Amino acid sequence: MKVVTTVKELRRKFGKVIFPPVGLVPTMGALHEGHLSLVLSAIRECETVIVSIYVNPEQFNDKEDLKNYPRNTEKDLEMLQGVLRGNDLVFIPSDKEIYPEKDTRIFNFGNLDKVMEALHRPGHFNGVAKVVSRLFELTNPDISYFGIKDFQQVAVVKALVKQCGFNIRISAKPVIRETDGLAMSSRNQLLEPGIRDQAPVIYHTLRKVSSMMKEKDIPDIKIFVRNNIEKHKDFEIEYFEIVDDVELIPVNRKDEMGNDRRYYGCIAVKAGKIRLIDNIEIELS
Ligand code: PAJ
Repeated sequence: MKVVTTVKELRRKFGKVIFPPVGLVPTMGALHEGHLSLVLSAIRECETVIVSIYVNPEQFNDKEDLKNYPRNTEKDLEMLQGVLRGNDLVFIPSDKEIYPEKDTRIFNFGNLDKVMEALHRPGHFNGVAKVVSRLFELTNPDISYFGIKDFQQVAVVKALVKQCGFNIRISAKPVIRETDGLAMSSRNQLLEPGIRDQAPVIYHTLRKVSSMMKEKDIPDIKIFVRNNIEKHKDFEIEYFEIVDDVELIPVNRKDEMGNDRRYYGCIAVKAGKIRLIDNIEIELS
């Protein structure tokens, strides 16, 4: 694999040795098996894989979160070295390379940017759209890989592709979990040990939701979710919603659910100081 840090180097590489199809895996580093699963899918399907590692300040609405975000480029490169091939690239740009000038764009994603994460992280998806569109322009991939772990991000990126007319296929991949069920996340390493031990309750609660849907309606399920997670004193729910996977409109009763859509239970929990998100597909039959 080759490591490039500037747009100039990236363009030079593109001038010579890029074979299509090109697969892009955008990341913010502190890589784990979840990221790796995307990289492995890209390797299976693409002749050239580009993994970007860039902690994008524009998508952090909380300065402390940005400051504390784990960074470990050396370990990331070691992990990637184990899987990437000779011709693949790792792109590790600086802020100046991504934003040579202030990016003042304002995107409109309609309802996608009005629910769940968008309510609790104002400006977050606008920042994601800025960096992802910039990465798409710089690397011009055929396929770009994203994890369903960030369910709302997948919907926003698909809308971005449509709005900007990018000729890029978005490939969405399943959530990779620790053996105890906790969804892998770069932020997990910031959890205090006592809180980390209890964090699988989030996924176990989501699984119960999925099975409870057969007998109970959504208001009762919401009460169950709150009680089951907040029985741990360091855990506080920011939101729990059941939404469709196209417009992400929260449903309040089962009879609002159509057969032509898929539905996901999506949750954000403050576990101590760390914010965790997770989701599960709801099986209707
Ligand atoms: P980051 O959190 O580093 O995640 C990079 C990609 O890995 C995202 O598509 C995310 O959904 C996926 N991912 C993270 N944890 C996963 C898991 N447990 N299983 C499967 N996939 C997982 O998401 C971002 O970075 C940024 O917002 C980014 C898209 C790079 C733009 O800055």
